[in-house]
Amino acid sequence: MDESTVSVEPSWFRPDVLAGRVALVTGGGTGIGKEISRVLGAHGAAVVLASRKQEVLEAAVAELAEEGLDVSFGVCDVRDADAVRSVVDGAVSERGALDIVVNNAAGNFPAPMSAISPNGFKAVVDIDLLGTYNVSRAAFDASLREHGGSIVNISAPFEQRGVVYQAHVAAAKSGVDSLTRSCAVEWGPYGIRVNAVAPGSMLGTEGLKRFSEAVPGGAPVRPTNPLGRHGHGSDIAYLTLFLCSPLARFVSGQVIAVDGAGSADMLRLQAGPI
Ligand code: COA
Repeated sequence: MDESTVSVEPSWFRPDVLAGRVALVTGGGTGIGKEISRVLGAHGAAVVLASRKQEVLEAAVAELAEEGLDVSFGVCDVRDADAVRSVVDGAVSERGALDIVVNNAAGNFPAPMSAISPNGFKAVVDIDLLGTYNVSRAAFDASLREHGGSIVNISAPFEQRGVVYQAHVAAAKSGVDSLTRSCAVEWGPYGIRVNAVAPGSMLGTEGLKRFSEAVPGGAPVRPTNPLGRHGHGSDIAYLTLFLCSPLARFVSGQVIAVDGAGSADMLRLQAGPI
């Protein structure tokens, strides 16, 4: 089991809190997305995992099905609006409806601005921001507008701060935060809640691995947040579960950081308890 899937167990939520709900999780085959799929599935949702690589999806679905979860998959690149529509429409016809969308698919490579080509910048913005639009629109049109539901966008806590090697990601994710608020406002009257979860540094993720490799000397990235640790996939998954559950029925248009107070800490001077 990779480190990002170390779960908070046992769950403190009712196991049937999402019974009868159908969820689509993009990037659901690996890392945080797989843990979100696992936690939503373990609380009663039928989960459709979507991403680019069929073999990755097949392995994830086999693993989660082995745990007794009701999971299936659809192959699409979230940048391709037609392919996204085909997966969303397929999920709705197979499962009867779509109630929950988790826009988790993301592209990232750590690089200074001076080394990001126009195409590299565009690739990340297209996956993170355009992809979130594509999936949200397709789900709205195919099902959510009929009966409401919950959208959770996985963002990053970069909107208020500059971050080295992440100019393209910070720009894209700030757009995701903005889109979160716009969709929450426009789609609230349809009974659709839209929120974002912004993970800090997360153990076992491709992003942290690539970032560690990019740091001069290849040193592991040390947690600099006041709680003094990296996050786990389950830290993101359980907030996502809460946001998709009836417990959060009046929560919408919010971007919630899950980063050990890293984004709240302006000067990062504190080394321990004071
Ligand atoms: N440094 C600088 N530029 C890079 C780069 C790096 N480490 N990695 C990719 N690029 C550039 C490529 O050179 C290319 O630009 P060019 O055409 O001007 O040469 C551009 O990014 C697109 O690369 P490509 O590999 O063709 O795109 P892709 O669509 O197949 O991949 C990425 C998308 C680049 C975001 C890829 O890193 C990815 O898919 N990552 C997903 C996994 C991941 O990182 N998840 C963690 C999310 S936090």
